[in-house]
Amino acid sequence: MSSKRRQLHLGLFLFGTGYHPAGWRLPEGKTDGAYDPQFLKEVAQKLEKAKFDFFFLGDRLATSADMQHLFPSQMTRLEPFTMLSYLAAATDKIGLIGTVNTTYAEPYNIARFTASLDHLSRGRASWNVVTGSDTRAALNFSREKHWDNAKRYDYAEEFIEIVSGLWDTWEDDSLPRDKASGMFADGSKVHALNHVGEHFSVAGPLNILRPIQGQLPLITAGTSLRSQMLAAQYSDMVFTGTNVKEVAVKFYKEVKGRLPEYGREASDLKVLPGLVPIVGRTEEEARAKYAELNELVVTDYDLGPLSDKIGIDLRGYSLEDPLPDLSASETALHWAGLARGANGREDITIRDLFYFFTVTVRGHLLVVGSTQQVADIIEEWFRDEAADGFNVCPPYMPGGLDLFLELVVPELQRRGLFRTEYEGSTFREHLGLSRPGNRYDLIAKG
Ligand SMILES: Cc1cc2nc3c(=O)[nH]c(=O)nc-3n(C[C@H](O)[C@H](O)[C@H](O)COP(=O)(O)O)c2cc1C
Repeated sequence: MSSKRRQLHLGLFLFGTGYHPAGWRLPEGKTDGAYDPQFLKEVAQKLEKAKFDFFFLGDRLATSADMQHLFPSQMTRLEPFTMLSYLAAATDKIGLIGTVNTTYAEPYNIARFTASLDHLSRGRASWNVVTGSDTRAALNFSREKHWDNAKRYDYAEEFIEIVSGLWDTWEDDSLPRDKASGMFADGSKVHALNHVGEHFSVAGPLNILRPIQGQLPLITAGTSLRSQMLAAQYSDMVFTGTNVKEVAVKFYKEVKGRLPEYGREASDLKVLPGLVPIVGRTEEEARAKYAELNELVVTDYDLGPLSDKIGIDLRGYSLEDPLPDLSASETALHWAGLARGANGREDITIRDLFYFFTVTVRGHLLVVGSTQQVADIIEEWFRDEAADGFNVCPPYMPGGLDLFLELVVPELQRRGLFRTEYEGSTFREHLGLSRPGNRYDLIAKG
């Protein structure tokens, strides 16, 4: 284990119109950011200036217009590897993570996309392996049904093994390009994969040289047992989403505790929950922005889903009513506590709880407050081993990101929690990972 002081890892989880469903409706909110090349470039360059570890793009393979009020940023967006190739040319240091849904892809193609991005970015590419949270994707890929969790993860494991194997098929010195002898490639250093497994047969070799990083850092996102096992075996970083510190601490411990089963150390895997920072120059400014955002939510105020979540039926109440006695449900008490925290007062109404529920439905940690307050929460989660860093989801763009970069990042740097300079140039280096040897070379050397 490294003796270096543990430091935060920070990345942007891009939501083009912001994480808050009404972020785009603010007067200053950018509505078409996810499609604006100049804007995307500026965002990536700002992140790099702030020494962020990565720029991350999620992906889903199905959509419908009815997502507009809850998930406007995920309803339509650009294909991740295409966008990241463009950003690679506009940046020098920042890691670039694209999501790959293994359920609907072929490993040979994904090995090509990822290796290509790694070469173009000079060693900054990474992939986030998901097995697909949107079941409708099946209908876009000539299937009748989304597979169950077990089949998706069986498939993903074999998929990862193949991609990782393909990256190694050309040894680092396999291309001497020797003008004098005429030897362009050294065939003895080029290997077939000859994978024949339950789901795939892939001969190889890959038609791209070994990536700059050798093996790209692998990210996973999910909390099911199979997802945790995948993370423990293969991932360098796992994305999660919870707004409850105790849940995060439990997950952190559990998933890291699985690493020794695979011959790895707990520190080999970084755990990054999502963080939605609504930060202001003062606490009042932040609370006012939270209120402004919530008032712009487009909703029919159906209290059903909230009632189901907290286990207390609120359907008969008026939105302006104070919260009723919630003591019959631990979950309800907990959610009410979180909503009070976000509002900064005790006397919240059903409307306040409804808004809190609506804007945090994807589960990431929402923090509303001043620079110090937001930095305190980050520090607390980091020190208490709930997180090794955060996947930052600005509530609106670009202002929500700008305030975080201008106010919170310098504060974290002042506290010695976050880098003030990049120490390396590749994404592996940002994560403190060395470049792995090539399996074929290692076999040859015994
Ligand atoms: C931060 C984060 C980002 C995610 N991004 C995606 C994504 O881009 N596409 C997707 O299909 N699923 C995404 N997921 C969903 C997970 O891959 C996973 O399917 C979901 O969390 C269900 O968990 P499970 O697979 O462990 O059952 C994401 C999850 C988290 C926590």
